[in-house]
Amino acid sequence: MTPSAPDIRVLVVDDDPAIREALARTLKKLGFDVLLAEDGQAGLDRLREGGVHIILADLQMPKVSGQELLRAAKTLAPDVEVIVITGHGTVEDAVEAMKEGAYDFITKPFKRVQLEQTIRRAAEKQTLALQNRRLQARLDELQGSGRIIGASPAMIRTLELVGQVAPSRVTVLIQGESGTGKELIAGAIHHGSPRRDRSLIKVSCAALPETLLESELFGYERGAFTGAVARKEGRFELADGGTLFLDEIGELTPAMQAKLLRVLQEGEFERLGGTHTIKVDVRLVAATNADLDALVREKRFREDLFYRLNVIAIPLPPLRERQEDISLLAHHFLRRFAAKNAKVIAGFTEEALDVLQTYAWPGHVRELENVVERAVVLTRSPLITPADLPETLTGSEQAARHLVISIGTPLEEVEDRLIEETLRYTRGDKTIAAKLLGIATRTIYRRMKGEAEPPATE
Ligand SMILES: Nc1ncnc2c1ncn2[C@@H]1O[C@H](COP(=O)(O)OP(=O)(O)OP(=O)(O)O)[C@@H](O)[C@H]1O
Ligand SMILES: [Mg+2]
Repeated sequence: MTPSAPDIRVLVVDDDPAIREALARTLKKLGFDVLLAEDGQAGLDRLREGGVHIILADLQMPKVSGQELLRAAKTLAPDVEVIVITGHGTVEDAVEAMKEGAYDFITKPFKRVQLEQTIRRAAEKQTLALQNRRLQARLDELQGSGRIIGASPAMIRTLELVGQVAPSRVTVLIQGESGTGKELIAGAIHHGSPRRDRSLIKVSCAALPETLLESELFGYERGAFTGAVARKEGRFELADGGTLFLDEIGELTPAMQAKLLRVLQEGEFERLGGTHTIKVDVRLVAATNADLDALVREKRFREDLFYRLNVIAIPLPPLRERQEDISLLAHHFLRRFAAKNAKVIAGFTEEALDVLQTYAWPGHVRELENVVERAVVLTRSPLITPADLPETLTGSEQAARHLVISIGTPLEEVEDRLIEETLRYTRGDKTIAAKLLGIATRTIYRRMKGEAEPPATE
């Protein structure tokens, strides 16, 4: 038997208890994990719970027939192989079943050899498919968190821009809210550049206090400070010939901003406690979820550094503004997590997709990724349903997305209520609410203070 037979779960569906038991015994001897169902309806119920790889079903059963079970299986869980059992003299039915997508058929009374051969071939096919899916998942991981998915106009523009700037050495600034895919894009820029075989070094400017960050970036000489017992190379040196990804650049202190500016301008620096000037060839990619323009205006971020970093700007829009990407990403994550968890899940029900499409996604792609992983782990059916999604997406907030307004309500009142409800939906975030409503944030402030909208003069 294939070494992985215990990984393969066979669902035996037959209304004749004697045959059911005989099949179960044989299959268990062959090393399979066996489930039993006493008729087509029970078989269908069990199939919906997921985790079945092969179905062995009698064609003639009361209520739900083998043929109907086959059809349901092919839509609910197309990856499951179905082998039908047919009485002698009814081979036409078996041929019909083959046309509908059955893997094979065996005739009653069956010979053990025939049963063994058929089920082994189906099992091998399933094992291969499973291994393939696991391999694909590993490949995705190896490719540095995987392919970039996107078909929305915004993502297509972004990917074109990435393709254009990647081959050069130009400094790139990626701006977007948390979870929009900044690190993924940084990886793509490195992998699309001639530096791809050298290191991509990542440093988060927010993770470390100033002094630690400084020694991380520039390294130190022995004795530079208490505890510096040996010389240490900094990230700039490690990234020589490659790419340095500076994440959360908006968090840099003024002193660090000045030091970074010097490296950008002159391509050189000294280690802490060192006098020897080090030259490196590093391509810099920076990212931030802060509004750097605003920080510059508030004099919290150096303007000269900003212009050095912002040679090429890649903005990553919020997920809710990339409608076309939601379903693509959801299916992408579904395939990845189904493989990782060795589950056979064909897709989402229409209702579930609808929930995903209409949610506001404050956590963007990362939130979607987490929602899909949770659903894959929790679901007991071959299709993800709204019940598998967290309540924040489906529960009371779902109801809060609709507003009932009586005919004849004064317009001003309608607007006030709409603004109020939208704010409740965005949990008080006025910027997001303004975006959803297509108005200026200050309009919301004004309306909340009860002031009437001044005539539009701007
Ligand atoms: N277009 C995409 N296609 C496929 N996966 C994506 C895409 N965008 C983001 N992801 C995935 O979503 C998750 C979050 O992305 P990433 O870490 O790049 O976001 P980020 O903008 O750097 O977030 P933060 O500001 O919180 O660090 C990652 O697992 C990433 O692989
Ligand atoms: Mg990040």
